[in-house]
Amino acid sequence: MPDSLLRVLTCGSVDDGKSTLIGRLLFECGSIPDDVMVALESDSRRFGTVENGVDYALLVDGLAAEREQGVTIDVAYRYFETPKRRFILADTPGHQQYTRNMVTGASNSNLAILLVDARKGILDQTRRHAAIASLLGIHDLVLAVNKMDLMGFDEAVFDRIVADFRALLGRLGTMTVTPIPVCARDGDNVTTASSRMPWYTGTTLLKVLEDVELTRADADRPFRMPVQFVNRPDHTFRGYAGTVSAGTIRPGATVVNAATGVEAKIARIVTMDGDLEDAGFDQPVTLVLDREIDASRGDVIAAAPPPRLADQIDCWVVWMDETPLFRGRAYQFMLGARTVTGTITDITNRLDVETLNEIGVRELHLNEIGRVSISLSHPVACETYETSRELGGFILIDRLTRNTVGAGMVTNIHAGRSEVYWHRLDVDKQARAGLNAQKPAVLWFTGLSGAGKSTIANLVEKRLHAMGKHTMVLDGDNVRHGLNRDLGFTEADRVENIRRVAEVSKLFVEAGLIVLVSFISPYRNERMLARDCVEEGEFLEIFVDTPVDECRRRDPKGLYQKADSGQLRNFTGVDAPYEEPLDPEIRLLTLEATPEELAERVVVALRERGIVT
Ligand code: ADX
Repeated sequence: MPDSLLRVLTCGSVDDGKSTLIGRLLFECGSIPDDVMVALESDSRRFGTVENGVDYALLVDGLAAEREQGVTIDVAYRYFETPKRRFILADTPGHQQYTRNMVTGASNSNLAILLVDARKGILDQTRRHAAIASLLGIHDLVLAVNKMDLMGFDEAVFDRIVADFRALLGRLGTMTVTPIPVCARDGDNVTTASSRMPWYTGTTLLKVLEDVELTRADADRPFRMPVQFVNRPDHTFRGYAGTVSAGTIRPGATVVNAATGVEAKIARIVTMDGDLEDAGFDQPVTLVLDREIDASRGDVIAAAPPPRLADQIDCWVVWMDETPLFRGRAYQFMLGARTVTGTITDITNRLDVETLNEIGVRELHLNEIGRVSISLSHPVACETYETSRELGGFILIDRLTRNTVGAGMVTNIHAGRSEVYWHRLDVDKQARAGLNAQKPAVLWFTGLSGAGKSTIANLVEKRLHAMGKHTMVLDGDNVRHGLNRDLGFTEADRVENIRRVAEVSKLFVEAGLIVLVSFISPYRNERMLARDCVEEGEFLEIFVDTPVDECRRRDPKGLYQKADSGQLRNFTGVDAPYEEPLDPEIRLLTLEATPEELAERVVVALRERGIVT
């Protein structure tokens, strides 16, 4: 069996003949069993689009249909080999919404075959895929100009498409491009040179796949292994299990836990099939060290120089969610085996797929690719994507839906916060709060406009004040006249509104106060962020639960009337969403009790929790 393995990504738009090309390749390389071939011939007669011939697309699309029933797999892998090499083909659906799949496929491929329909030339989708392939570190790209037969095998058509593509290339970094004119249906220039395009003197597609040099010298890079889990069956054994993501390792080598800087020597490399003398890229192993380095899941065991610890990164993000990416929003950030909270601190540019220029933006929409800065809740050992796909690539996960909403590539690493010292003060929040026999807390009142948040918060504060407690109220209407004067009511502005108020309430908690926050705060995500700003037990989400019809009836500021008559846009509950709390600490049903009774209930809850005594 040939030992060199090439991972190939196939991409392109719908209907450009990708399935046919893949079917052809599989067929010509003999990786289609006889019985499948017989079925294919009969299917081609019945359903095929090719007159008197075999429709290779049926082979691939047939598999695709089955695959779609499975739903979970969105990149299909196919295997074939020639005497020279083994191949794994990653096939990604061509529709725009499948950018996600393209990213998944590209992130572990060496080469991309980008299909273009000779009749259509370079499309937006072609540009998008080329840009993603380049960003994801694919160095070699085959531009397969397909359906040449439909353009009379015209050299000028091919040359024009290649020239169009080359014009883009300058902006795509250092990819090497091999253009090939093909007719996938009949096999021209797929595995054998076409006699119908004598003007083409280059090689066939298969030859390119066989000959392309594997540029990634994984073995030459310093050793890296993200710890998947600590294997500790009993007190006699402790090993760190993971997959080698770069370099090679042998017993006796010195490694370091990138998170702590603690060094040790490799004592054993353990696998299911016994101990190894060495291990390299992509090998799953369990490392036993000669001394304790206190590594836990997500840490990286590395040879010198170890990866840097980042608490701020700059990166490219491919955004894959219907809800746009906003500054201020927090996500789960997964890199290597580590998961932390990542807050978007900046969005500066988006890649325009039409021109591949960068355009200044403040948010990223579905399928857009942009430059983003992220602040991490804990330092993460990482590298730039250029250095390491494994320690420089990450995904963003929505903390509520658990969907993967973005994929990113680290371009710059900062360790800013760890160099900005956290100044320890002798008087801390407990000391400050102790003066008033209280514990600091955030009472976060959320609910629709007109629900009664401010009314109840005001009554609670009056009671606390009378008890000699030190309080502060942050009210949406008021804060929007000062600190948040620059913000309106778009989703992005509300996210930023709440982020700032969450930070401010954290400062008041540090001051030892009981902070009463009264903001609509319509998104679960930002309320979760506010909760995460303070310590466990310091945050009480209070849902002021009033049906929208009742708010509309009360309409204290006349805003519902304006919204209903179209004078006011993006009004919560009318044409902007409100995401009800799923599990608030306190729920106040305002239809069932007076504001005084509800305020009393909050004070009782504070007593029960020991926040006031
Ligand atoms: S939030 O959604 O960003 O949390 P916030 O609580 O700060 O909103 O401000 C809400 C107040 O702004 C409302 O009580 C209302 O007085 C006023 N307001 C003005 N326009 C809107 C709008 N489009 N949607 C909601 N509230 C609005």
